[in-house]
Amino acid sequence: MGNDDNLQKAILDNIPDQAWLKDRESRYIHVNDAFMAACGLSEEQIVGKTPDQVWPRDWGEKYIGSDRHVMESGQRMRYEEQRQGADGKLRWYDTIKTPVRNAHGETIGTTGISRDITDRKQAEQALLESRSQLRELSAYLQSIREEERTRIARELHDELGQSLTAIRLGLDVAASQSDMQSATMQRHLEKLQELAASTIESVQRIAADLRPPILDELGLPVAIEWLVDTFAERTGIVCELHLPPALSVCEREISTAIFRILQEALTNVSRHSRATHVVITVAAGAGELQVHIADNGCGIAAGISRDNSLGLMGMRERALMLGGQLQIHSAPGEGTRIDVILPYALDFRGVPDASIRPDTESTS
Ligand SMILES: Nc1ncnc2c1ncn2[C@@H]1O[C@H](COP(=O)(O)OP(=O)(O)OP(=O)(O)O)[C@@H](O)[C@H]1O
Ligand SMILES: [Mg+2]
Repeated sequence: MGNDDNLQKAILDNIPDQAWLKDRESRYIHVNDAFMAACGLSEEQIVGKTPDQVWPRDWGEKYIGSDRHVMESGQRMRYEEQRQGADGKLRWYDTIKTPVRNAHGETIGTTGISRDITDRKQAEQALLESRSQLRELSAYLQSIREEERTRIARELHDELGQSLTAIRLGLDVAASQSDMQSATMQRHLEKLQELAASTIESVQRIAADLRPPILDELGLPVAIEWLVDTFAERTGIVCELHLPPALSVCEREISTAIFRILQEALTNVSRHSRATHVVITVAAGAGELQVHIADNGCGIAAGISRDNSLGLMGMRERALMLGGQLQIHSAPGEGTRIDVILPYALDFRGVPDASIRPDTESTS
């Protein structure tokens, strides 16, 4: 063994991962201890052999193929592969192969390292699974919350609203019998009438905020118009709304998601942006629904983690849960724009002229 060989061997043996050196014909020149342990053969049994004589035939042929590829392209190659470990169990490996050149730049072989990444793969898999479980749980909680809101809104509106209306009517009748009452009594009655009227209004507002009945009764476009109008009225911020004509969204989850995302985005505009103008655009494209909310405010301040704040995270989660995506574009002083894309099979019911009704969702 020459000096170079000793040096190469010392380097390879120092590597905890499987490492090897092969000649142009894919014959092993050096292998390290980890390599020998992985294939269960001794150095004498490996050196001078090709991979198809050391590993199961189909893997061996694959390795010879990738050696050839590395030598022909002159490029390093990195890939993840699954094969049986010494214990017979399937394990994951991260393999890097590199061409080896002589002093004249000619490729004289390959060298490689293969790292067992089974633990990392398993952790990644577990992480993906727990993420998807969390997403499912979050979707489930959102839907329960929405159902609960719907129920409370309905009860507030129907039960409490009806009783309050009855009280107000009774007070109206009592107040109309003015000849039977003293002036003091009359004043009390008027106060009670006012109180009943304002309480009815509050109940209606609270019920609508919980879940506006128009979202279920009249559909998403009308609910969006209502939301934007009440927002403009409450905040004084000028709102420009672009809705596609004759858009009808039947799926409750999609309507709810878009409505809630828009609601949170507008709340953020009024709470944080100091904007004077917001443009809300809903566009129905090929198989997807897009919503853009752009304000001319101060933009999201640097240093705010867009991933950890709950309002923005909730919006993104709603989009992800439905297979869509949400992006936030913002620069200090240049306003904020939220882009939401949800996959959706469009329903164009209500287009007045059947000749312009698309057969598929590809036109809009
Ligand atoms: N349109 C906007 N313009 C300027 N800053 C914004 C805008 N939207 C969000 N931000 C900034 O991003 C931060 C995070 O927003 P997010 O909605 O996640 O949380 P929040 O509104 O502070 O609280 P909540 O959890 O009640 O929604 C806000 O605190 C604000 O600083
Ligand atoms: Mg918020």
